[in-house]
Amino acid sequence: MYYPDEVIEEVRSRNDIVDVISGYVKLQRKGSSYFGLCPFHNEKSPSFSVSPGKQMYYCFGCGAGGNVFTFLMEYENYSFQEAVKTLADRAGVALPEIEYSQEAKRARDEKNAVLEVNREAAKYYYYLLRTPEGAPGLEYLKKRGLTAETMQRFGLGYAGRYSDGLYRYLKKKGVSDELLKKSGLMQVNEKQGMYDKFWNRVMFPIMDLNGKVVGFGGRVMGDAKPKYLNSPETAVFDKSRNLYGLNFARSSRKKQLLLCEGYMDVISLHQAGFTNAVASLGTALTSQHASLLKRFTDEAVLTYDSDEAGIRAALRAIPLLKEAGVTAKVLHMEPYKDPDEFIKAQGAEAFQERIDQAENSFLFEISVLEKSFDMSDPEEKTKFFQAVARKISGFELEVERENYIEAITGKYQISFQGLRKMVMNWLMQGAPPVREAPKSGKRKEKEKEDGILKSQRLILTWLAEHPGLYPSVRQYIHPEDFSQELYQKAAKLLFDQLEKGEVNPAQILSVFEDPEEQGQAAALFHADLAVETPKEWDKALRETLAKIMDYSIKKKTAQMDPADLQGLQQLVDAKRRLQQLGRLHISL
Ligand code: UTP
Ligand code: MN
Repeated sequence: MYYPDEVIEEVRSRNDIVDVISGYVKLQRKGSSYFGLCPFHNEKSPSFSVSPGKQMYYCFGCGAGGNVFTFLMEYENYSFQEAVKTLADRAGVALPEIEYSQEAKRARDEKNAVLEVNREAAKYYYYLLRTPEGAPGLEYLKKRGLTAETMQRFGLGYAGRYSDGLYRYLKKKGVSDELLKKSGLMQVNEKQGMYDKFWNRVMFPIMDLNGKVVGFGGRVMGDAKPKYLNSPETAVFDKSRNLYGLNFARSSRKKQLLLCEGYMDVISLHQAGFTNAVASLGTALTSQHASLLKRFTDEAVLTYDSDEAGIRAALRAIPLLKEAGVTAKVLHMEPYKDPDEFIKAQGAEAFQERIDQAENSFLFEISVLEKSFDMSDPEEKTKFFQAVARKISGFELEVERENYIEAITGKYQISFQGLRKMVMNWLMQGAPPVREAPKSGKRKEKEKEDGILKSQRLILTWLAEHPGLYPSVRQYIHPEDFSQELYQKAAKLLFDQLEKGEVNPAQILSVFEDPEEQGQAAALFHADLAVETPKEWDKALRETLAKIMDYSIKKKTAQMDPADLQGLQQLVDAKRRLQQLGRLHISL
């Protein structure tokens, strides 16, 4: 982690979670907590709770939970560092400077300088579009159906008719020629010296995840070629790592991201309400793009152009996405060319229908494959099914293979058994690994373990809410009695806090860097059991402690080395304490 723990804790404690989340979710007080509609899943009645005491949120519906950092990471899709920075700014906490090496410092300074030049350029283009000189650009964008609001949101601009407009503007701002060269915004030739790369075009600033301008695309306003010019790669612009529109799409709160080909597609989709649309920057999708997408979604809908090039692009993108763990689906655009055209002709509702009907990527691949075989020729047809079977044999799980065999037999004239045999043949020939789903015999074991985990969560929750229980609980269980690493780690930290008399569960979550783990840790402090009367309390507490002890003793017994006398003695002691537990009476 890059900031010291104390700094992280200070930032966390200076940002009250109720205040922060209130900026995103309407909260109402109910008892000692606040409740609202969960922003992480669809619901009609509020099961999303925010606890001022624990400084945590937790959704009893979907299990999302964490501290104030987790919330920003999940809601805004920030990294941990970004969340810390944002909240430090919000509370006016000064973060320490991170130490850089000489070389890293130079690189960082260059990046910042190029970003600053880009920002100035974007301002210049933006301003020009809204002056009389920019009228042709404005007219063009209006003709393309963009509203003033959309143009503003995407920071659209105009590069004027003169090839030195930006050059002169930036020179006046004191930017050196050297920096101008590095920015990629200028061209140099012997006769003219340095002049603007972009002129007489409408300008699309390309922003990174955090909304910083890293480059530009510029479009001619007619049919001239090239249609688009793009910034070259610079210290801050790497086409294979940026996706247009992702700075907005990252917080669109939609289940999928829509992946399309062009700037205009993204913009018109966003204008129509599909704020989850992104596009690569005029290049094919890369594996870096796929990993970037995976940070924000598990499913991408390919909304590529319906032409030959679009199909080829989809076929290339599917395996890359799959590799990164993103499920791909393919949207059928026919009879329209691209999303922009579709939305104009049919509107948003019809487009949503197409999204809902998007085809499974495997079946899409198969239907493309089919086109390369003459299906009226029996020999070709056999080859086609061989190819299909080979592809199906690549799936790891038997259920997966069977599902695809079934889907294919529903669509083509081949019997389930026939295709299955072909798939088996491919499997026998070796290649892809076969891994089966876990056997159901293990289910019982699993249920038992779930019960134990629930008991462990209950104890942690009760301890966090009623620290007065600690002196009694401590006599019976220790952090190592908890069964999983995450539980043990959280228990250890909580017990340490209780020893010092400073309970602060939200601080515990910051120890976990991954928001997923933070969410799981938050769940440890939000177990729920309906107990009301003191008598019920007493019983629940005793039973819960007993379950945890019993499980831990059994586990230790099973792993015990008979020569370990000290360990044996500890086990005997633990058993004795478990028996005494029946006589324990605890009140809150
Ligand atoms: P398209 O030709 O589909 O353009 O190229 P578009 O975005 O739909 O734009 P309109 O609707 O014709 O105005 C898709 C993408 O390919 C890149 C751009 O990123 C563009 O958005 N491209 C295209 C270039 O970089 N240069 C070109 O000359 C053409
Ligand atoms: Mn287009």
